[in-house]
Amino acid sequence: MKPIVYITRKLPAEAVTPLQDQFEVRMWESESEAVPRTVLLEEAAKADALWTVITDTVDDELLAAAPQLKIVANMAVGYNNIDTTAAQERGVIVTNTPGVLTETTADLTFALLLATARRLGEAEQELRAGKWTSWTPMGYTGMDVSGATLGIIGMGRIGEAVARRSKGFDMRVLYHNRSRKPKAEAEFGFEYAELDKLLQEADFVVTLTPFTPETAGLIGTRELALMKKTAILINSSRGGVVDETALYEALKNGTIWAAGLDVFETEPVPVDHPLLSLPNVTALPHIGSASVKTRLAMMNLNAQAILDFFEGQEPKNRVV
Ligand code: DGY
Repeated sequence: MKPIVYITRKLPAEAVTPLQDQFEVRMWESESEAVPRTVLLEEAAKADALWTVITDTVDDELLAAAPQLKIVANMAVGYNNIDTTAAQERGVIVTNTPGVLTETTADLTFALLLATARRLGEAEQELRAGKWTSWTPMGYTGMDVSGATLGIIGMGRIGEAVARRSKGFDMRVLYHNRSRKPKAEAEFGFEYAELDKLLQEADFVVTLTPFTPETAGLIGTRELALMKKTAILINSSRGGVVDETALYEALKNGTIWAAGLDVFETEPVPVDHPLLSLPNVTALPHIGSASVKTRLAMMNLNAQAILDFFEGQEPKNRVV
């Protein structure tokens, strides 16, 4: 009997092929819709390995219902969808897919920063709606990126990659992180700053921290009030890092100038969400790592983690 791998989302055939010989591969047959919880619980109960995506909640209830489960391979760098403490207590290994998505996610983050600063979403929507009446002296005027100060909260791999991109725009870079980055400071001139100083001085505040109990609601009313009135907030980490109610008020009242969001507290974000009613919000559907090459590389890492584990090797990118 082959071990059972349950994959929670329909994947391209090439991603699954490496597993076919050694495993019985079962897969949720929809790409656009997440596996219902009841199905996930039923499948997990029979599985030796789970291949999860960020929309799957792997909690103690699921782990308790999965007596044969040995490994959860999460196809993402973030793993806040998994209760790693419960997994560890139950002896289930968890892996993630860092590294391969760094540059792609940094590209998207910088694209979102540019798009928000120069109001690309709003301008394109108006053009398509036939509202472009004429070139106007002050129409669609935004904020300059070149020469501005970039503040990065969470200077991990993706944070550093975003900061490197800003050098092409002659930006000053402030960063806030649990640990200092002496190499990046020496090589690129990035400056460490306490959170409040970063918020006060940055023209662009970019949140790139993992979502943990410590970072939940990290940017709230107090933090937004510290930012410049002309500042722009970019979030491409997890929605919960920013207090959305506070952000809505800040954007509506002119406490800050605009926000670019690739992530939301609830995903998919409801179309009637107050933030989507604001013209100074550029919103994307969580596409940070969404390039063909990167998504295939993430799948490859996930398959390899499962293969390595069942071949008796320590899987790369083990979280617990
Ligand atoms: C991640 O990897 O954590 C992304 O948010 C999903 O692509």
